[in-house]
Amino acid sequence: MIKFEMLSADNVREVWELEKRCFDDPWTYNMFESELDNRISVYIVGRDIDSGAVAAYGGVWMMYDSADITNVAVAPEYRRGGLGSEILRLLMKVCAEHGIKAVNLEVKASNSAALALYEKFGFVRCGLRKKYYHNTEDAVLMCMETSEISD
Ligand SMILES: CC(C)(COP(=O)(O)OP(=O)(O)OC[C@H]1O[C@@H](n2cnc3c(N)ncnc32)[C@H](O)[C@@H]1OP(=O)(O)O)[C@@H](O)C(=O)NCCC(=O)NCCS
Repeated sequence: MIKFEMLSADNVREVWELEKRCFDDPWTYNMFESELDNRISVYIVGRDIDSGAVAAYGGVWMMYDSADITNVAVAPEYRRGGLGSEILRLLMKVCAEHGIKAVNLEVKASNSAALALYEKFGFVRCGLRKKYYHNTEDAVLMCMETSEISD
């Protein structure tokens, strides 16, 4: 069973360990640690209460009435079980509670799993940034209105 908690000084290192398992170009530990004091960010962490392991996390930056999802990651052994969708649902709920109207994110054009997740969730492609990642790979911009959340 997965329980959700906020990013904190107690779990930030575990979250960073998961980040390194999930991304080729992970954020640094300092980037995660600085999120603890970032007043515009909210991070949700999913912990497997049986094993005690951090299984997933996701974060959002909220600015006035729009927000950017910074990252969503699920440990490989927990994928395709709906956890990525649940993290997204919780982040969108936080956004709606903060009066956010539009949520945006960027995803590597080659990341078919993430593109499929976001599209299934209701995000639409709203732009393309050519050679955005390390000046080689395109970023697909995706957006969604919080009013489109069904729950
Ligand atoms: C992308 C990611 C977060 C998905 O997490 P997840 O828990 O597996 O997602 P869900 O189980 O909620 O999947 C929801 C839907 O997304 C789509 N999806 C997820 N993974 C997929 C894959 N590997 N291939 C195709 N579609 C996929 C499916 O439509 C899926 O629904 P279904 O299982 O009923 O077919 C996970 O693969 C991950 O952590 N990847 C590495 C980090 C990353 O790329 N994060 C996104 C950065 S923008």
